[in-house]
Amino acid sequence: MSALFEPFTLKSVTLKNRIAVPPMCQYSAEDGLVNDWHQVHYAGLARGGAGLVIVEATAVSPEGRISPNCLGLWNEEQAKGLATIAQSIKDNGSVPGIQIGHAGRKASANAPWKGDDHIDSADPQGWDTISPSAVAFGANLPKQPKAMTVEDIQRVKHDFVQAAIRARDAGFEWLELHFAHGYLAQSFFSVHANQRDDQYGGSPEGRGRFLLETLEAVREVWPEELPLTARFGVIEFDGRDEETLQEAIELTKQMKQRGLDMLSVSMGFSTPDAQIPWGPAFLAPIAERVRKETGLPVASAWGIDKPQDSERVVAEQQLDVVMIGRAYLADPHWTYRVAKQLGIEKPSWTLPAPYAHWLERYALAD
Ligand SMILES: Cc1cc2nc3c(=O)[nH]c(=O)nc-3n(C[C@H](O)[C@H](O)[C@H](O)COP(=O)(O)O)c2cc1C
Repeated sequence: MSALFEPFTLKSVTLKNRIAVPPMCQYSAEDGLVNDWHQVHYAGLARGGAGLVIVEATAVSPEGRISPNCLGLWNEEQAKGLATIAQSIKDNGSVPGIQIGHAGRKASANAPWKGDDHIDSADPQGWDTISPSAVAFGANLPKQPKAMTVEDIQRVKHDFVQAAIRARDAGFEWLELHFAHGYLAQSFFSVHANQRDDQYGGSPEGRGRFLLETLEAVREVWPEELPLTARFGVIEFDGRDEETLQEAIELTKQMKQRGLDMLSVSMGFSTPDAQIPWGPAFLAPIAERVRKETGLPVASAWGIDKPQDSERVVAEQQLDVVMIGRAYLADPHWTYRVAKQLGIEKPSWTLPAPYAHWLERYALAD
């Protein structure tokens, strides 16, 4: 019996297995709109048999895009395009999720394969960035952001709410708030980015306020019966790890009280000087601690793509759901391949009938 292939129910949504494709930016949009690339990409990921497919970081406002080629959800035309993606993920047998976010001081950047660096605000493709404080990330992203006023904070929260409404109306069944990876929400939480001395900075409570208020406002419009999750960097690997982790766990408990249904445990990426101990499933024990101490179900990614590792982290209750990123880009039928390797019954039927029938009837040699 495979733990990885057990269904997982959260609120009214049941994933057919514990495998999710995490959000992965495609840097392939114009004006925040989906196009043929996104249609083919997401249909292919969903067809491959994962229980959940989460659409890439989708900006709540133009200034919140990581790059000029990120998806957006700040107007109805964008929502209309994303509705076709949600439907296509469903038609291909998976649950459609979406991640909404604001890139903060990491916005206005070139796509990774075009340099991954800041685009100057004077360039027609670039724009001015905002962050809790006027502190640049550094390294490849040296642009100094504008420190947000309280009015800016209210506006961005409102943008999150509007994007959540559009995501709901577009047919998404799983919403993930991007509170990770050094983008705006993570920057509020991070001592590397937040030097405010008002109610949105200073103490862990102050640094957590933007995240809690945003979550609370989104929960009011996101249907009670549908999962509301967040991806949150609970550790920076900056030498302050235990302190950050304890603060993050406390904040996660408060998010739970305000209606968070699950946490996708990730890293902060708030400083270019982090010393990350990359390795297979290296974040799983940290996710397990968050799971135990908060009582929330957790997902996580980062190098959990070997069949035995992904099975083990679920079987040992470190994670409830495993996120498979790059391995899914390499092999959009990863779930089928792993089902075969783990010996689950009728593995071909992780794929739709037009593929499954033939692969079962005339099995290929491994
Ligand atoms: C091409 C690419 C784009 C990504 N875009 C996002 C994103 O939009 N939002 C996010 O939270 N993480 C993003 N990530 C991180 C992935 O979701 C995932 O955490 C990471 O790839 C590690 O998982 P893996 O080891 O299975 O690849 C991206 C990663 C890749 C490779």
